[in-house]
Amino acid sequence: MIASKTEEEIALLREPCRIVRDCLAFVEERIRAGMTTREVDEMVYKFITASGAEPSCLGYCGYPASACVSVNEVVVHGIPDERVLEEGDIVSVDLCAYKNGFHGDGARTFCIGEVSDEKKKLVRVTRECFFEAVEGLKAGTPLYDIGYKVQRHAESNGFSVIRSYTGHGIGHEMHEDPAVPNFGRRGTGPRLPENAVICVEPMIAAGGWRVKVEEDGWTAVTLDKKPAAHYENTIVIRESGVEILTL
Ligand code: MF3
Ligand code: CO
Repeated sequence: MIASKTEEEIALLREPCRIVRDCLAFVEERIRAGMTTREVDEMVYKFITASGAEPSCLGYCGYPASACVSVNEVVVHGIPDERVLEEGDIVSVDLCAYKNGFHGDGARTFCIGEVSDEKKKLVRVTRECFFEAVEGLKAGTPLYDIGYKVQRHAESNGFSVIRSYTGHGIGHEMHEDPAVPNFGRRGTGPRLPENAVICVEPMIAAGGWRVKVEEDGWTAVTLDKKPAAHYENTIVIRESGVEILTL
């Protein structure tokens, strides 16, 4: 059984989700070559705290920063450090805000200056995977239809779906049930109830889907070192479709 939120809870969730949305837009406007990933993280920390929220990632299972900043072959959970962003990099920024007792969660992949055609296509297709997945999604849809649609769109473009990380439910906790895989069989899985709140987050690789986690216990990189991209929103499942809270 997948849990539903009450309308009161959804009303409270809107604010952290708006902060995530606005923070991602704030980062998008400012991120550039020459900046370190730590400076990106500082921007996120300041924005979220100035909004009266807390950065949910900071201290989560010992995670040392407010944002995950994942460059090129880093799929997710890149720890901000002194690495300098360069023209041609793609950078996934994933962040969560906690306010009103609820979390909001979102991610985007940004292009630094001119990037290769392959990276440009990867970033575009990853975003499209999200919209393919939520198209027609509504109360009663089998959960794994989401992954089916993400996988179909990614693979038909010659890319692969990361298997070892998934989307998730969200609410009082940053990660709640159910896990929301980005691959699967159409028509399978539990049916999504009205007012379920979940994060749909395709993580797509230009090469193979295999990933290894570095010594720091967080940084997830593609085994073949090919680039990967990430696009995530927090959504509410409604009777007639979805409401996207972080867009
Ligand atoms: N925001 C991520 C997600 O999409 C989780 C980040 S893990 C953390 O689920 F440790 F950085 F918090
Ligand atoms: Co998430």
